[in-house]
Amino acid sequence: MAPRIEAPEFRLTKTDVVKKVEDILAPLKLSEEVQKRIREVYDEEMRIGLARNPSRKSCLQMENTYLPELPNGTEEGEYLALDLGGTNFRVILLQLEKGRVVSDEVQHYFVPEPLRVGPGSELFDFLAACIYDFLETRSKLDHKLPLGFTFSFPMTQQDLNVGILVSWTKSFNCPGVVGEDAVKMLNEAIQRRGDLEVEVVAVLNDTTGTLVQGAFLDRKCAIGLIIGTGSNACYIERVDRVEKWEGTHGDIKEVVVDIEWGAFGDNGVLDFMKTEYDQMLDKNSLLVGSFTFEKLFSGKYLGELTRLVLVKLAEEGLMFGGKIPSQLLRPGSFPTRFVSLVEQFSMGIEGDIPTDQSEESAKHLDQDAVLKLARPVSSESCFHELGIEHGSDDLKILQQVCFAVTERAAILLAICLSATLMRVDREECTIAVDGSLYKYHPRLHHLLEHYIIKMTPGKKFSLLLAEDGSGKGAGLIAAIANRLRTRKHS
Ligand code: GLC
Repeated sequence: MAPRIEAPEFRLTKTDVVKKVEDILAPLKLSEEVQKRIREVYDEEMRIGLARNPSRKSCLQMENTYLPELPNGTEEGEYLALDLGGTNFRVILLQLEKGRVVSDEVQHYFVPEPLRVGPGSELFDFLAACIYDFLETRSKLDHKLPLGFTFSFPMTQQDLNVGILVSWTKSFNCPGVVGEDAVKMLNEAIQRRGDLEVEVVAVLNDTTGTLVQGAFLDRKCAIGLIIGTGSNACYIERVDRVEKWEGTHGDIKEVVVDIEWGAFGDNGVLDFMKTEYDQMLDKNSLLVGSFTFEKLFSGKYLGELTRLVLVKLAEEGLMFGGKIPSQLLRPGSFPTRFVSLVEQFSMGIEGDIPTDQSEESAKHLDQDAVLKLARPVSSESCFHELGIEHGSDDLKILQQVCFAVTERAAILLAICLSATLMRVDREECTIAVDGSLYKYHPRLHHLLEHYIIKMTPGKKFSLLLAEDGSGKGAGLIAAIANRLRTRKHS
């Protein structure tokens, strides 16, 4: 079915309510002028983020990842990959042959909340214990395995295997790690055990892993994008433009830059477009005042944003017969998968998205698997699941709300992607994408294409689903790190 770009028809039995709902949703609409301003601000923050001695600090970290090259098809051997970023930690054993992942064994370990917000050393001890469990089960404890560590948080990198945590994000907030090298902390935990032979050769962000995995699938790939629990992108930049790069860079011409756009706006530059819902959402979040851009739309927040708008509509007497359902008053009660579900129904697509739409499960489901899990539903399913009584007008209003938050998400992402595309020194550029929201939202891909075409007329680009970059990409980067070491020592 052709993806729908325009809003679903909005007719209610009470016509005066239409206008009132539209007024409440109006702040979520980004006018051309506001879009232009966001673009200008983003361009400026990118520029300052790369500058050597800027007059002020940019909210975009523009981190040099020290990754000077992508896979070249010679990567061989057995590698271990770790993936930490969400509530599930993964350990992966990868077999590479001629730059291709020929087998991967994955094990998930749930990271309980006390570990996600407790002392950092305990978190790293847990990671080391998981590695032990994984290798012991496979009788590989005595194998000397190079390890690529996907640590999907903002880091300052000083080398391919040094990643100093800048701040926690998403659902993590462990004291004692900010300002520390995640690789060193992991190595220390490994040494404390004394029974593991692994060596951490590379630390990477999930966007970098996605770019590497994308480049393996398509040589034109120069941008890695995550639209999942959080959101971020990286791209290949010309070294001469990374003014802040300390020291020499020899004959390296290009380097992968991790933008960390989740924090776009943390210095107030986006305040002009934030709505009362965004402000409320931030106030109730784990890390108040940070990750402004991510909180506007990413998977951890899109459902919550929708909930806040629904509460406002109910408070104004425009939904649920003027009563505010108590279920909706609970933060987090309207998960992002409901937004995808309502959008799917608005488009007239039958079937459901899997009930478990966590970031981790998304990594292992392709579109076919998603369809196989499908069962017939309608937008009502979410109200049913929440046990909320509703009328038919409530459903139509819900569709408008989901449309509005989705539309804003797509435009915001398209603005930053367009600006990034224009920086990339390629005639044609493939954007490798991964993340649960991108995978499960039925219109996001089409909307992104639509808006990027509009914002970058004539630019050749494509969006490519590059699954499990944080697993496979980590293995490939560990192999590249090995190659770079051998070259240095020869
Ligand atoms: C957050 C992290 C970033 C990561 C993104 C997607 O924004 O800061 O490093 O890439 O989430 O997981």
